[in-house]
Amino acid sequence: MAVADRERWDDRHRAAGAGVPAPPDALRGHEQLLPPSGKALDVACGRGTVAAWLAGRGLDVVAVDVSPAGLAAGAALVASSQPPGRVRWVEADLDRGFADGFPDETGPYDVVVCQRFRDPALYPALADAVAPGGLLAVTVLSEVGDAGGPFRAPPGELTTAFAGELEVIAHHEGAGEAHLLARRR
Ligand SMILES: C[S@@+](CC[C@H](N)C(=O)[O-])C[C@H]1O[C@@H](n2cnc3c(N)ncnc32)[C@H](O)[C@@H]1O
Repeated sequence: MAVADRERWDDRHRAAGAGVPAPPDALRGHEQLLPPSGKALDVACGRGTVAAWLAGRGLDVVAVDVSPAGLAAGAALVASSQPPGRVRWVEADLDRGFADGFPDETGPYDVVVCQRFRDPALYPALADAVAPGGLLAVTVLSEVGDAGGPFRAPPGELTTAFAGELEVIAHHEGAGEAHLLARRR
């Protein structure tokens, strides 16, 4: 990612202020499937609202983003709402894939989240990161219910990418977003 793009994300995260812990959108209505403990990975975690929520539910979280401002906001949110040590914040550029030791040897994960960061080249790595019995929750911008655009997923992108390797629990497209919740058998 170009430095200017990263700085734009930093500016957006600083302007947004503190977030509130929140479940991944793709998990809403299925929260009972969340394991009470284990390891979670939040890919492109932004201001850490999902990472903080997962930590509050008892998971040990690795939260990754390219934006130092987003990671700092997440760390502050967790510090104000959780016991210390539950989230490891990792600054990494996902344009390089899951390279450079990320995610590290502590995977696979019982819960993998990737919300509102779309890079189809990462889909195989996301699926690989899910442990047996683990959950994958993905939300991306979608062409369905929207005028379309270069960053939006065409209809069926998430099921095409994940249904072969994972069992789809829920899939919904509409209002410009696509959500998928899946589990490794
Ligand atoms: C729309 S925000 C979503 C944040 C969070 N997942 C959420 O749902 O609130 C997209 C995030 O992707 C991060 N991002 C964009 N490109 C990235 C890259 N190449 N590597 C790592 N993170 C990236 C941005 O910094 C930003 O935090």
